[in-house]
Amino acid sequence: MEGAGRSPGRGRSPRIPRSGVENLMPTVTFLPGYRKVTVPGGTTILDAARAAGLSMNVVCGGQGKCGKCLVFIKEGTATFDRDKYRRFFSDDEIARGACLACQATVVGDVLVNVPAESLIQEQKILVEVPGQEGIPFNPAVRKYVVRLEPPSLDDTTPDLTRVLEGIEKQGGPPPTSIYAPLDVLCFLPLVLRRNEWNATATVALAPVGYRLSSVDGGDTSERLYGAAVDLGTTTVVAYLWSLTDGRILATASNYNRQISCGEDILSRVNFSRKSGLSQLQQLATESINEALTTAADTAGIDREEIFEVMVAGNTVMTHLFLGIDPAYMITEPYIPVVRRMLSTGAGQIGIAAHRNAEVYTFPAVSNFIGGDIIADILATGMTDREEATLMVDIGTNFEAVLGNSDWMLSCAGAAGPALEGGEVLFGMRANPGAIERVAIDAETLTPTCSTINGVRPRGICGSGLIDLLAELLRTCVIDRTGRINLDISHPRVRKGQYYPEYVVAWKKETSVGKDIVMTENDIRNLIMSKAAIHGACMTLLDAAGLEPGDIGRVCFAGAFGNYLNKENAITVGLIPEMPLDRVENIGNGAITGANIALINRKRRKELDAIARRITYIELNAEPSFMDRYTSSCFLPHTDFTLFPHVQQMLEACRAKQGVRSWQA
Ligand code: FES
Repeated sequence: MEGAGRSPGRGRSPRIPRSGVENLMPTVTFLPGYRKVTVPGGTTILDAARAAGLSMNVVCGGQGKCGKCLVFIKEGTATFDRDKYRRFFSDDEIARGACLACQATVVGDVLVNVPAESLIQEQKILVEVPGQEGIPFNPAVRKYVVRLEPPSLDDTTPDLTRVLEGIEKQGGPPPTSIYAPLDVLCFLPLVLRRNEWNATATVALAPVGYRLSSVDGGDTSERLYGAAVDLGTTTVVAYLWSLTDGRILATASNYNRQISCGEDILSRVNFSRKSGLSQLQQLATESINEALTTAADTAGIDREEIFEVMVAGNTVMTHLFLGIDPAYMITEPYIPVVRRMLSTGAGQIGIAAHRNAEVYTFPAVSNFIGGDIIADILATGMTDREEATLMVDIGTNFEAVLGNSDWMLSCAGAAGPALEGGEVLFGMRANPGAIERVAIDAETLTPTCSTINGVRPRGICGSGLIDLLAELLRTCVIDRTGRINLDISHPRVRKGQYYPEYVVAWKKETSVGKDIVMTENDIRNLIMSKAAIHGACMTLLDAAGLEPGDIGRVCFAGAFGNYLNKENAITVGLIPEMPLDRVENIGNGAITGANIALINRKRRKELDAIARRITYIELNAEPSFMDRYTSSCFLPHTDFTLFPHVQQMLEACRAKQGVRSWQA
């Protein structure tokens, strides 16, 4: 590795042998804000930034593949192989000391400027989801107001028995089925006597029998709350419910604080293996507590009156949240510690709710089909239908489930980071300034773009990338292999520095000081991502003996699917072709499923059975998957007969545009 740090006015610093570097303790100062941190020599700037409390964009997990962790060395020394990563920088950026934080290591005191684009920004978090108020209300926790006769020499019934009998008289479960924790018993005599034997008992359905969660003085029956939580790898979403009348009181969302320990699942597991498990557990808890506190403050309620919390997360997130070691999930033979639904006392894991509140986590099918997908399934209602539903949840990884009330097949795979903005030169997450919609005029090739928050464009997020791909195909700027037609004489279609490219926004229109382009290499990465998803869908259909026409509906879950233009998704061959009215966006299925399981005890009871019913297909062990993937590495597919309407549409476009051509 070549020393490439900059020391303005002093030239390049001498190289220090690596063996000696670790013994140094240089100070790294981050601008703006002058955050300082002292780290061992040889630490990457990315790790130093984490230590300084900065959350940087690490879309590729720090592998030097996405270019999103751009920083500028203003003073001091760092080693960085600039030639190797030259493609990520403009000449102007090079002159200003550009490097990738994940690949540059500190060898002396250094002053680093971190541009706003390299920090994780406020993301468009999918909080609102349709149809929440229509979920049948039948919660698993209830309050009973008991007005008890005081004891006497003629009636020496113990306090607990007196309360339990009072509960039964109010229509509650029989006394023998209710377990009372020690801390409730310790407070019980005082509460009853201070309140002249008028009290409110909170009783929750437990995995076995019932649990007496609390006994409070007086009538508190109006104050009973529950929370549903989507514990995502990137974000946390919480819904706060009144469990007395089934109203949503507030919603809240924030980042998962674990991001500072790694952006993707694998880097979190690796972090936990380096004795970071308790830190990750604490960060997950803090993230949930932040959302619960915001929601409780918004609703004006006391968090202590939240008596149930339902958490949906993927298998690794669930392990980390509960402080269970996920290490064996990433080494052969890839075994999780637990797959079934679990319940834990809130006080035991530090959740900001009543200390005896039950915190439930969803069951999982496999390492890759976790509780978030079981929640998605609940949200689709596919287990109640005879017709086959195909549910697809797309992120850096994708999960697909095909089935109905009788059977379900599932698979998962890596979609690659392209659809989340990684491995695409101007790709970005759905943050303000991301181009999220694009249409291209077929005559002038001028794009019309809309950005998140309506501000000047900074890059392109997933939905915008799919729009672009479809529009470039329709306007014959690219052929079906994704090759850009450089015969087109137009200023937007040009030979870029490394690859042919299409200019989406001119420098003067953007907030990044350069043209925003989509390159042929970006297109190739996007095609590979969409091919993996299409190949997986076709593998599931094949395993079920179905054709695309047999699918009753396709449900997209997750933020990516929610903003996706369905027609464009079919045009590029992301999913099998089908009538558009059969394609639905279910929004954030994980939070919808968590809501359902929170307020409907019958649905919650079914979760373990649903998880057991799903057959998981390992795509790597499925020989036909690779063939299907390869066939899908075309727009929309090598076999046009699978996309007859897209074929018709593209032929019509071709005929109209005559001058441009695309490869049949
Ligand atoms: Fe540094 Fe992707 S995180 S290049």
